[in-house]
Amino acid sequence: MDLTLSSTAPEAVETPLMAVLVASDRPFEDLSGFDAQFGGVLGRAAALGDFRGRTGDRVAGHHRGTDGPRRVLYLGVGASGSLTPETVRCAAGEAVRFAEGRRLPSLALSLVHPGPGVKARHVQAATEGMVLAAWRFDELKSRAGPDGDGDGRGRLLRSGLIVGAPPHAWDEAVRFGRAFASAENLARTLQATPGNLATPSRLADEAVRLAADSGLQCEVLGPAEMEEQGMGALLSVARGSDEEPRLIVLEHHGGDAGAAPLVLVGKGLTFDAGGISIKPARGMEKMKYDMSGGAAVLGAMRAIGELDLPVNVKAVVPSSENLLNGSATKPGDVVRSRLGKTIEVINTDAEGRLILADALDYALGWEPAAIVDCATLTGACVVALGHHRAALLGNDEELLGELRDAGDLAAEPCWPLPLDDEYRKQLLSEVADLKNVGGRPAGTITAACFLSEFVGQTPWAHLDIAGTAYGKTKKPYLRNGPAGRPCRLLLEWVRARAGV
Ligand code: BES
Ligand code: MN
Ligand code: ZN
Repeated sequence: MDLTLSSTAPEAVETPLMAVLVASDRPFEDLSGFDAQFGGVLGRAAALGDFRGRTGDRVAGHHRGTDGPRRVLYLGVGASGSLTPETVRCAAGEAVRFAEGRRLPSLALSLVHPGPGVKARHVQAATEGMVLAAWRFDELKSRAGPDGDGDGRGRLLRSGLIVGAPPHAWDEAVRFGRAFASAENLARTLQATPGNLATPSRLADEAVRLAADSGLQCEVLGPAEMEEQGMGALLSVARGSDEEPRLIVLEHHGGDAGAAPLVLVGKGLTFDAGGISIKPARGMEKMKYDMSGGAAVLGAMRAIGELDLPVNVKAVVPSSENLLNGSATKPGDVVRSRLGKTIEVINTDAEGRLILADALDYALGWEPAAIVDCATLTGACVVALGHHRAALLGNDEELLGELRDAGDLAAEPCWPLPLDDEYRKQLLSEVADLKNVGGRPAGTITAACFLSEFVGQTPWAHLDIAGTAYGKTKKPYLRNGPAGRPCRLLLEWVRARAGV
C-alpha cells in the first residue's frame, strides 16, 4: 500500500472513505461542519448515546453531496490524553477492513479530532496499522479457487492517506511507520511461503535481493563453507534433507567505523518435520513457519538499511530443513559445534538450538555490543505464555529491559523467564559436553540455557516466539496466519539503540 500524508482539510479530500478518529473527551462539535456532509450521522448517534467516542464505538455514513469523501467511518479511540499507539494501530486496521469489505481502492484516515493528544508515535502507529492491515498473501491463488469469488487476486487496497496537520512534523513518523510495517509484511510473506518454495537456498536468494535493494552487504555460506568453519551442529540438522543449508549474513554499516555492532540472529528452519524423532502428522504443515525468526530478522534488516539507521547492525540467519533420510542424524549421535563443544543429540526435533548454536558462535567473532536472537524454539513456550507474549531470556538485565520496552512500544510484548544455573544441569550428558534436550520440565528455559553455552560473556537475549509468530488473531490490522512478530520489536530496539 502506498501511504502518504496530507494537510488538506478532511471535508475537502476526494476519497471513497474517510475514517475519522474521535476522542471521547474532545468536543464533538469540532466535527459538526464535517459531519453535516453526511447528514449529521455522528451528531444523531451521539444524541442517542450510541456513540460516545469510546474505543469500539463506531458510526458510518454516506455523503449527501457531490464532492468530498464518499463515505465516513467514525472510530472512537477513548480519552485523547491516554491515547495509546496500539489503539490507533487497531483503529487504522479497522478502517482498512471496512474499506476492504467494500472493495474500495483507497482510503483516508483523519487524526485531527483528538488534537494535541496525537503525537509522532500515534502517527507512526496509524501508518503501521494501515500498511499491516492491507497485507495479504494471494500469490499462490488462481482465479479458480473454491471460494468462487472469481478474483482471488488484485483486490488489494492500493493507497492510503493520513490526514492532519502539521505534516512536516509527521513526515518522519510516517517514514518510520511505513518502513517498519513493510518490513514486517516482508517477514509475513516469507513466513506464508510454503516449504517447497521457501527453501534455505531461496531464502538466501531473497536475502541477497533485499540487501541489494536496501544498501546492505550480504554474504551466504553453503555446506562447504560450513564444513570449513566446523559448523557440525548446523550441518547435523541439514544431513537428513536433500536441500542444502545456508547461513545468511547481512551487514549494515550506519555507525562509526569500528563501533561494536548489534547482532540479530533468527532461526530459519524452513520446514521442521522433527527429523528421525518425527513429529505427529496433525498440524505439521504449520512447521513451514519454523523460519519465522529468520523472516523477522530479514525484514528488520531491510528497514534498517532503508532508513539508514545510524548504528552498525549485523544479522545471521541459519537456514536448513529438518527432515529424515538414510543419512539423517539419529538420536544418540554426537556432533561437534563450531565452538568445539560436543553435543549428544537426544531428540532430533530439538534442532533449532543446534543451528542457532553455530550461528551465535559465528556472530561472536564480530565482538558484538549485544546479540538478540529470535526463534520458534519450544512448544513449551506456547504452554507457558500462550499466544500473546514471547518469552524473553538472557544474561544482561539492561538489555532485557530494553527489549521489554521495545516490545511494549511495538505492541509485540514479551515476558521474562529465569535463566538460573540450576536448570543447566538438565543438559548434562554422559557422553558429550551437552545434550540437546533437558527433559519436560522448563523446556523453554533449558533451551535458552543451551543457547547461552554459545554466547560467552556477550550481552545476549533470546526471544522464544513459538506462540506469537503466527496463529489466529483478533487484531484488526493482522490476519490469521503469519504475524511477522517480532520484526517491529527488533526495529524499535535497534532504533532506540541508534538514538533516533
Ligand atoms: N520448531 C519446534 C518448536 C515449536 C513447537 C514451534 C510448536 C512452534 C510450535 C522445535 O524445533 C521443536 O520441535 N522443539 C521441541 C523440543 C523438544 C524436542 C525438546 C518441542 O518443543 O517439542
Ligand atoms: Mn523441532
Ligand atoms: Zn523447529
